[in-house]
Amino acid sequence: MSITPIARRLTAPDIASRKNGQPIVSLTAYHAHTAAMIDPYVDFMLVGDSLGMVMHGFESTVPVPLELMIMHGAAVVRGSSHALVVVDMPFGSYEESPNIAFRNAARVMKETGCGAVKLEGGARMAQTIDYLTQRGIPVMAHIGLTPQSVHVMGGFKTQGREQSQWAAIEDDARTVAEAGAFAVVVEGVAEKLADRLTKMIEIPTIGIGASAQCDGQILVLEDMLGLSPRVPKFVKEFASLGAAIGGAVSAYCDEVRGRTFPGKEHVYAMKKQAGAVSGDTKDSKKTNKPDS
Ligand code: KIV
Repeated sequence: MSITPIARRLTAPDIASRKNGQPIVSLTAYHAHTAAMIDPYVDFMLVGDSLGMVMHGFESTVPVPLELMIMHGAAVVRGSSHALVVVDMPFGSYEESPNIAFRNAARVMKETGCGAVKLEGGARMAQTIDYLTQRGIPVMAHIGLTPQSVHVMGGFKTQGREQSQWAAIEDDARTVAEAGAFAVVVEGVAEKLADRLTKMIEIPTIGIGASAQCDGQILVLEDMLGLSPRVPKFVKEFASLGAAIGGAVSAYCDEVRGRTFPGKEHVYAMKKQAGAVSGDTKDSKKTNKPDS
């Protein structure tokens, strides 16, 4: 598929304008080099707090500190130039009051250079979403399965599989849209409910474990590349990079142990010097740059 070049980075209003349009494509990104690889293809990259589990081995996203999000967020901004970068507000950095949320979100925007933040919660976060957007911070909301509430939910549980749960989730979707969120992640909800939410609200829904009819989709990059040891049902592995890494590392180990790596093409020969006798290293002291 051809990629249309774009002169400037996409913005939150660009994403909002895609409601009912061409599907919005998104992936998580945590480092500069993977950000650079996916940047030409996706519309926005999320520096998700899932990095706590994927990169740092935490059991949930709850322990992730703000500083870690800022460090990864800045790396992703440095590695990209086309996609909107959205940085997750971690647990404990925004729930207490709109004031505290603003202070921390402003730090994220200033110190990373990202174009928007994401926070979890529906109706209960409406006041904060309004407060941030009124003060210049574009907010992506996140409803349905909200991983930072894992201890309240009693696990990572799919939401809205019983119709009795629908009204509360519909209220969440409506309220975050009215509060000014430019898009909303709808995670781990029954497909029928995700379809209904997408028709019901005027901002794009970004599905993960939701429905193909959402206005866009997001997956954790490592999950879709086959790098994660366990993946939920909603993940499709588009590659098997975990197996490829295992194969490459095992081949490297064999070659090191068999002394076939490094080969002649990977080592540096002496410079040829007129009149120099073999083994003369005098000139090699002039520079410590490696030969090409
Ligand atoms: O933290 C994260 O990666 C997320 C997405 C998967 C939606 O919130």
